[in-house]
Amino acid sequence: MNTIAPAVEAAPLAHRSTVMARVMDLAQRVARSDANVLLVGESGTGKGMLARFLHDASPRRGGPFVTIACANIPAELLESELFGHEKGAFTGALERRTGRFEQADGGTILIDGVNELAPALQGKLLRVVQERTFERLAGTRTVRVDVRILASTQADLEPLVESGAFRKDLFYRLNVIRVDLPPLRKRLEDVPVLADRLLRDIALRRGGEPGRLSPGALDRLMRHHWPGNARELMNVLESAVILSEEPVIPADAIRIGAAGEPGRAGGGTERHETLAQVEERHVREILRLTGGNRTRAARILGISRKTLIEKRKRYGIP
Ligand SMILES: Nc1ncnc2c1ncn2[C@@H]1O[C@H](COP(=O)(O)OP(=O)(O)OP(=O)(O)O)[C@@H](O)[C@H]1O
Ligand SMILES: [Mg+2]
Repeated sequence: MNTIAPAVEAAPLAHRSTVMARVMDLAQRVARSDANVLLVGESGTGKGMLARFLHDASPRRGGPFVTIACANIPAELLESELFGHEKGAFTGALERRTGRFEQADGGTILIDGVNELAPALQGKLLRVVQERTFERLAGTRTVRVDVRILASTQADLEPLVESGAFRKDLFYRLNVIRVDLPPLRKRLEDVPVLADRLLRDIALRRGGEPGRLSPGALDRLMRHHWPGNARELMNVLESAVILSEEPVIPADAIRIGAAGEPGRAGGGTERHETLAQVEERHVREILRLTGGNRTRAARILGISRKTLIEKRKRYGIP
């Protein structure tokens, strides 16, 4: 293990609620150990961020932190992404390539969306979890790595274990310590501090001073139920900053939900649009608002750049 620890400050998740204080307290203690951790929570609750915290607050902080998102990678590519491959392992494998496990050697790996893992890969993952060894695709040599393993899931794994979709032995190995990230609607008292933090993050990316919320804007945020959790809040704030261009964000720059909200063309024909039409209009609007900056547009839309490119192609957006 790499023991040289550079000065990375582990950034705790912004919070004020007692539930989140308990989560951070647990995380702080767990970080020091090398135990496998299973992070459970709805989309956007901060699992990725907490995984990063666990790494940065651990003795492995000087080593790499590597994430692999199981849901975003087609099943047939995932195995070689995880374990790498030898030259000639499959058509197009012109060179040997190391996988994420090797890249994470000496550090931490986050298996993001582990509930999506196909049964065949669950078996291979179990072996790495137990022995820290594997072979590259078409490889004969056994590779050994020193990696701390974190896994995250939006769905409880127990029902998947019950139904046979997820291996019980793998579940027990990953679930040594379980950390639950509560949804934002169950800790609305976190919204003001979280919004402040996110506005600072937005200012760091965009430059300039962080926006501040008017009482009316905050009131709107406190009334929402946040199905998309902190990520949704980030997106709402980013659009608010773009829309208002003022230091204090007015209530009407907070656009939550679709038609019917003030400031939106509500009712009329819009109610009968298809989902695809709504999506196309929204993608176009965000691209317009960001001046065609695809990285920012993708971030605001909460999708990858690749997905944005696909959507532009589908809708013929230049
Ligand atoms: N408490 C928090 N303080 C500061 N930022 C946060 C907090 N919680 C979440 N965020 C930010 O919100 C966004 C979503 O968080 P994150 O990506 O960690 O969610 P997730 O649970 O991994 O979601 P998914 O299941 O969709 O992958 C990120 O930009 C993250 O930095
Ligand atoms: Mg994530």
